[in-house]
Amino acid sequence: MSNKLKVVVSRDLGPDVMPLLLDNKELDVVVWPHNSVCDRKWLLENAAGASGILVMLSEKLDAELFDAAGPSLRVVSTMSVGYEHADLKELAKRNIRFGYTPDVLTDAVADLSIMLALMAGRNTKETTEIVQSGQWPNFVWSPFAFCGPQLSTTSTSPKRTAGFIGFGRIAQATLARLVPFGFQHCLYAANPSTPADPAADAALAAKYGVRELRRVLLAELASESDVVFVLAPGGPATYHIVDEKFLRAMKRSAVLVNTARGTLVDSDALAKALHEGWLYGAGIDVVEGEPKIGADHPLVKAPRCVVLPHIGSATTDTRIGMATLAANNLLGGLFGKDMPAELNTSR
Ligand code: DGY
Repeated sequence: MSNKLKVVVSRDLGPDVMPLLLDNKELDVVVWPHNSVCDRKWLLENAAGASGILVMLSEKLDAELFDAAGPSLRVVSTMSVGYEHADLKELAKRNIRFGYTPDVLTDAVADLSIMLALMAGRNTKETTEIVQSGQWPNFVWSPFAFCGPQLSTTSTSPKRTAGFIGFGRIAQATLARLVPFGFQHCLYAANPSTPADPAADAALAAKYGVRELRRVLLAELASESDVVFVLAPGGPATYHIVDEKFLRAMKRSAVLVNTARGTLVDSDALAKALHEGWLYGAGIDVVEGEPKIGADHPLVKAPRCVVLPHIGSATTDTRIGMATLAANNLLGGLFGKDMPAELNTSR
């Protein structure tokens, strides 16, 4: 019998990060050998006797997996900031420590949120399609062709407001990027179970240098915002928070950006809203039911809707940062040390 601790890793983390695990003489590392989503049956079989498991968003972390691992399991680490794939109650009940990857992806996702606001507002869906399909010769430059709302604003332009559903790290990093675009007004909606804190809002307004920063109800956020960023966690509490009622209340010139989770937006309602012009456009990095999103999906077919395949954190630096953090979380949990980003599962 080997004294080594078995760890199971559901994807190869690449040459910068795998040595953290593979070169550790105290570990017996089992890695899913393919460049594809880890097969559930393989994971359950290989989890047997594992002390640590490192997974992606695609792997369900539930009682079945923890049972398959058995009592040796000390730590589970996910290479993601989101953890709606994890049964936190089961983890807490079994005293299994849990690590995730906040902070390292904040800038990458905030960058992409701005990119999608620009892409949706400037209708890059239709305009790039025109070029790609060889149709450009049929379009002459003309005064108002392809015109959409401008993101940047100046002190002499009409007031423009950024709205955030969820106002955590990524939302605030997105606001920081909007300030140089001239934004001075920020509204946000937060989890109704947390109390409002006007003093904290005033401090944030001063920090980001905006004139207005207020927590509001969803109805006001929908009707007052020129660009709405969906940046709250997934899960039952936020399911379809952007629904037909919300979309009908939006300005016809507004843009919606979702870089959080697909489940927050009712896809059918958004497709209908875009077809009927309740808002100008949408930039969507996440779609409910992903990755099973074919060319016939209502949002892929919807006008002025840019859809990306969940690439918010997909920069090389960020992914190396996430993989490193996930590996270090695993090591901390295995050896009873601090984990750089441990989630308190018993809250
Ligand atoms: C996460 O980490 O939860 C993201 O959605 C992946 O980029």
